[in-house]
Amino acid sequence: MPLIAFASPKGGVGKTTMAANAAHEFARLGYRVVALDLDAQNALGMHFGADPYERAGFVTSLKDHADPRRAWQAHLQETPSGIALLPHGHATFAQTFAINAELISHPDLLIAPLRDILQDPQVVIIADTPPGPGVASSVIAAIVDYMVVVLLSDAASIVQLPKIDGKGMYRGAPGTPFPIGRIGFVVNQIDMRSRLSRAAAEAAERHLGSRLLGRVYRDEHVPEALARQLSVADYAPASKAAQDITAIALKIVEAVAPEQGGPMDEPAEEVGLAARPGPKMTVHS
Ligand SMILES: Nc1ncnc2c1ncn2[C@@H]1O[C@H](COP(=O)(O)OP(=O)(O)OP(=O)(O)O)[C@@H](O)[C@H]1O
Ligand SMILES: [Mg+2]
Repeated sequence: MPLIAFASPKGGVGKTTMAANAAHEFARLGYRVVALDLDAQNALGMHFGADPYERAGFVTSLKDHADPRRAWQAHLQETPSGIALLPHGHATFAQTFAINAELISHPDLLIAPLRDILQDPQVVIIADTPPGPGVASSVIAAIVDYMVVVLLSDAASIVQLPKIDGKGMYRGAPGTPFPIGRIGFVVNQIDMRSRLSRAAAEAAERHLGSRLLGRVYRDEHVPEALARQLSVADYAPASKAAQDITAIALKIVEAVAPEQGGPMDEPAEEVGLAARPGPKMTVHS
């Protein structure tokens, strides 16, 4: 089954929120979900009721196992949500640099256990990544089936779009090009009271066309759900955010699950990205 990664060129845009809520949706549909936290903030588990102060983790222990393929087994946590979690683990700056250096020389430390998990046809791995380019994100790009890029509806996010399209920001290491056709975008935290936010969302929509999986409005139910360690759909099922996030998750399911009629079997070229001119934002008064 697939590995789905959530990424963004910027921080604080809603990657972890979208990854966690998509994980909940996959689980609701009956998939066995492994939520993989590749971010040293170690915060993904909060969304599943896991202990945010737990120090041990999968990524921080990658090099401690005699058989790297089995490295995940000691760290897979069953959470109250029913989703299995591979936490990053607590790491200082120095430890994070050391882990990254190790992964640059030995990417298989991360790839081998993930491939081992994915041998189970029932499992979907949903990976949350740190903001911007990073070592772990680049390493897993070699085996990612579908990448979800989360953007804010602001100017700083919109200017990133041509970089993501044209220069293959999310391509993996040399020799392991990410199949960039399998990429979808979410524009998050749209504020309808803000002219700029509306304009940025419209610009993203024009630029991305069918690659836009959906828009999510700024909604207090989203951080409140996190505070309760629940999915938005469980915490506030009637909210607009819950409906938008569920619709996005279903589009991701379609994209990765061929039996659901999705485009998993299409060659990347057919849905691939071409370098495009930058999007134009029009601010209406
Ligand atoms: N649609 C939304 N409406 C309101 N708040 C939101 C929305 N989406 C995310 N948030 C809030 O924004 C904050 C940042 O979200 P999140 O942690 O998911 O971002 P991130 O991209 O993972 O950040 P980082 O780059 O630090 O990993 C959180 O407090 C989250 O609850
Ligand atoms: Mg995050």
